[in-house]
Amino acid sequence: MKTVNINELIPGMILKDAIFNELNSIELLSSNTILTVRHIDLLKNAGISEVSICTENNQKDNFEEIRKEIEESINVKEVLTNIVNQNMKINILTGEGNKPIDEKHEKVINETKEVFNSLMISDDLDFKSIEKNVKEMLPDMIRNNDVLMRLSQLKRSDDYTFEHSLRVSILAANLAKWLGYNDAQIQEVAEAGLLFDIGKMKLPQYILKKGGKITSEELSILEKHTQLGYNILLKTKGVSSAIKYAALQHHERMDGSGYPLRLKSGQIHEYAKIVMICDIFDAMTSKKPYGKGVSKIEAAEYLNWNTDSSFDTKMVYILIHKISEYMLGKKVILNTGEAGKIVYVDVNYPTKPTLQVGSEIIDLRFEKDIKIIKIIEL
Ligand SMILES: [Fe+2]
Repeated sequence: MKTVNINELIPGMILKDAIFNELNSIELLSSNTILTVRHIDLLKNAGISEVSICTENNQKDNFEEIRKEIEESINVKEVLTNIVNQNMKINILTGEGNKPIDEKHEKVINETKEVFNSLMISDDLDFKSIEKNVKEMLPDMIRNNDVLMRLSQLKRSDDYTFEHSLRVSILAANLAKWLGYNDAQIQEVAEAGLLFDIGKMKLPQYILKKGGKITSEELSILEKHTQLGYNILLKTKGVSSAIKYAALQHHERMDGSGYPLRLKSGQIHEYAKIVMICDIFDAMTSKKPYGKGVSKIEAAEYLNWNTDSSFDTKMVYILIHKISEYMLGKKVILNTGEAGKIVYVDVNYPTKPTLQVGSEIIDLRFEKDIKIIKIIEL
């Protein structure tokens, strides 16, 4: 047991003794209470100057409860208002509706899903329908730079392959736009993003939905989807070579460590380089049937570590730059139990932004012991 000044209390510490009010008539907090931000505020308001804390296991390993409390204490209403205002601005600027893409284009998306599903029983890909549907959605896919927010708005279901392809298509079209591609190229990249994993429609569903470890035999079957997709596209009239290469080469890596052909940077098509980055980014950040994703800045840092060896440096830099912009103003929860707001992101250190915590400014690049454990994205 030790006595701790009220200003040095950290959420997660455990109270040794119960705390009573001045007259000792009301128990404010019982013994063994795991302190949260709210409890500490309550003690401060009650004029308590110091408390006894358990010294063993005084930090709760599982921060879930504390995190929940902190999230509740953050002014969610204020964040929601900001998002609403942001969207209203989009409406005013573009005159377009603010519905999520999958709600606004429900019919077109269901039609595209049907095109995907038909490949489970046949090799005939209705590319005309893909072209038409991408064209219809494209203005909404690339309007403004709020793509990361709009990706989070898309509904999730069991149909991971299709939904992942849709998200990759949207992200890839935006990356193409940020790279300065013209309209026809952006449309082509959006089609490449939609069709890159189409070979998976030919694989046994149990392998795609299997969580945890897969056997080496299952892995070799899984890896065949690049060749299977390429074969379907090869047989389909009207599909450009760039789209075919995106399907065949999106698992190649810059240093030749990928598959199926172990190609190196200069041998990999530009569209395949775009799609592979968007594929990894979405796979890391999305909830899968067998697990949950990591935050956008953790995915950004992974891509950053692996430029040159795996991914195109310029493309990753542009994506991280956009993620950094998107993260500005987001609320975060720290391993100390405190809540803060991102005020600056160095593109070279996306997971170590500068934060405002209360009245303090904390630069995580120089604070080894402080980490973000949750970003509240809504
Ligand atoms: Fe793939």
